[in-house]
Amino acid sequence: MTQTIPHDIEDAAPAAQSGASAKKVFVKTYGCQMNVYDSERMGDALTRDGYQPVDSVEAADLVLINTCHIREKAAEKVYSQLGRLAKLKQQRNEEGGDLMVAVAGCVAQAEGQEIIRRAPVVDVVIGPQTYHRLPDALERARAGESVVETEFPAEDKFDRLPAAAAAAIRGRGVSAFLTVQEGCDKFCTFCVVPYTRGAEVSRPVGKILQEAERLAQAGVREITLLGQNVNAWHGEGGDGREWGLGELVRRLAKIEGLDRIRYTTSHPRDMDDALIEAHRDLPQLMPYLHLPVQSGSDRILKAMNRRHTAEDYIRLVEKIRKARPDIALSGDFIVGFPGETDADFQDTLRLIRDVEYAAAFSFKYSIRPGTPGAGMDGQVDEAVKSARLAELQALISEQTRAFGRGCIGRTVDLLLEKSGRNTGQLVGRSPWLQPVIVDAKAGQIGDIVSVRIMQTGTNSLFAEPVGANGDQPRSEIV
Ligand code: SAH
Ligand code: SF4
Ligand code: F3S
Repeated sequence: MTQTIPHDIEDAAPAAQSGASAKKVFVKTYGCQMNVYDSERMGDALTRDGYQPVDSVEAADLVLINTCHIREKAAEKVYSQLGRLAKLKQQRNEEGGDLMVAVAGCVAQAEGQEIIRRAPVVDVVIGPQTYHRLPDALERARAGESVVETEFPAEDKFDRLPAAAAAAIRGRGVSAFLTVQEGCDKFCTFCVVPYTRGAEVSRPVGKILQEAERLAQAGVREITLLGQNVNAWHGEGGDGREWGLGELVRRLAKIEGLDRIRYTTSHPRDMDDALIEAHRDLPQLMPYLHLPVQSGSDRILKAMNRRHTAEDYIRLVEKIRKARPDIALSGDFIVGFPGETDADFQDTLRLIRDVEYAAAFSFKYSIRPGTPGAGMDGQVDEAVKSARLAELQALISEQTRAFGRGCIGRTVDLLLEKSGRNTGQLVGRSPWLQPVIVDAKAGQIGDIVSVRIMQTGTNSLFAEPVGANGDQPRSEIV
């Protein structure tokens, strides 16, 4: 799903009720942005139920772990965490207290009952399509039942999850996620997502607009539309016609205060002309596109069931760049898919050199039980995977640095998002998603300011403000 930016994010829901009597929840989120969004929505439901968020396991009555199953390492992390929680629960019980543990997300969906068998500390296992049942599941668990909710119910969870309160939205910052599509029908042979998230479902236009308007009214300036295959989103538009993501973005761009729109993750096969035209026409649609290709070898792409060739991808990138020349591209790559030879890997490197990415995420192929890839011949040695990954990442890093250097001297708009490490500095995002550090006052968070990029750092860029009257920066490091 997701980009699926594969990192860990801790997140806690905002408080609706305080005081010593409130039940306290600690939420730990793994995996992609959709899990971040889901954790927020579950947090909202728990807040309405009287829970208060806390930022440590020790302070919590309930620990909710939102899990990711995409690679073996991600899934195994959950069990080491559950081991630690078992000790804490035992300690609590000895002191006459208690601790409840709920496991949500894609590991919950994939493993279900097995989680409780391996880790009896768990009270509730709840899959991504049943989050609206979490308060009820906790109630049943409190009565002594061990609850596993992993079916794909007919009812729409989004309709039953409470909308975030304006205060909660504000607490989460000026950039927000909004799920518009969930699930996947593509069945790439390496991937668990079609099994953990289910079939592709698009949320209706009216619901999306309502949520986007609420976010904008609460001060959100940027939304990132989420979907496992977000550009497969479709729905009946306000004009009675069938809309695709391009039309949806066009409508969202009319919402007062929403100055920036992004979307992730896109599949190359679903990049249609209307979406490309939206990139050409809409200043609100940021010139950044996460378009995973996974491999540059046609043989491997076929075995992965990606259903396009490397050449198709290159042509598509050319078409997108023609419509929006300053667009930055990012991608995902898997090295060591079964049967990948050195020649296949060289094809991937060649594609990367041809495309020139601003950023990319790359992974060693990880066998996922139940996927077709797991049973394929020609599994690649770990050492070979590691060597290929290192080579690919070196190339991508060089491209990312070159992209950053190319920004030096340019004047860009920055959405100021949060305080920097040093007082008097804020961190904002460039249109190309780079973190940029600039001198600014805390009160400017949420402003979009014009800055001149001066220097590149390890993970961010440094900029100077450009005066409202168009003053040039004091110095230039070029
Ligand atoms: N829906 C998105 C992303 C899915 S998961 C898409 O279609 O691109 C995010 C990324 O994780 C994938 O793009 C892929 O690069 C990686 N990934 C998925 N399954 C994997 C596996 N079994 N081993 C290694 N990487 C994997
Ligand atoms: Fe997984 Fe492929 Fe679906 Fe992406 S398109 S979620 S990689 S099956
Ligand atoms: Fe996201 Fe991981 Fe599930 S990437 S969709 S949380 S398997």
